[in-house]
Amino acid sequence: MTLLQIMPDDAPQRVLLRTDDDDRVIRELAARGVTLERWPVPGADVPALDDASLLELHRDRVDRLCAASGMKLVDIARLHPEATDAWRRRAQQARRTFLEEHRHGEDEIRFFAHGRGMFTLHLGDEVVAVVCEAGDLLSVPAGTRHWFDMGERPDFAAIRFFQEEDGWVGDFTGEPIADRFPRLDELAGGTP
Ligand SMILES: [Fe+2]
Repeated sequence: MTLLQIMPDDAPQRVLLRTDDDDRVIRELAARGVTLERWPVPGADVPALDDASLLELHRDRVDRLCAASGMKLVDIARLHPEATDAWRRRAQQARRTFLEEHRHGEDEIRFFAHGRGMFTLHLGDEVVAVVCEAGDLLSVPAGTRHWFDMGERPDFAAIRFFQEEDGWVGDFTGEPIADRFPRLDELAGGTP
């Protein structure tokens, strides 16, 4: 379920809009300069697929997007639950990477092929949380302040698109704003 929740940036507990209606989510984001598209998701066991096979599933659309957007590099970010302490430590470390407000020098384009993750965008005086699920292609414009939460128990596979090798590097604002807003599990409920 793709979920959108909008809050004032100075009042995290005040919900201005919350909707899981796909068309509404797409419209509200478009009005703010953010693109969300839905791509079909073949009924594959994504955690069992290696990266090359997963990319192959979406090859046509990935190639078309690269040609249209000027993105040159594609990779896959993924984490699937394992019942070990080592995995939990790795997951916590991965989660912390982009959990605080930052921006990038290029558009952040992600296609969720499996699972879910939450982008929270700081747009003007609004904070716009988008819980993405399998089938969602989200394009966050370059320079947009945002953070990303993969949750307490990450389970997702996302195709990432870059213009440059270091396109994923974040410029952190140092603002502690993300701590005041709901995290993924709080906003969308625990593990789906
Ligand atoms: Fe980011």
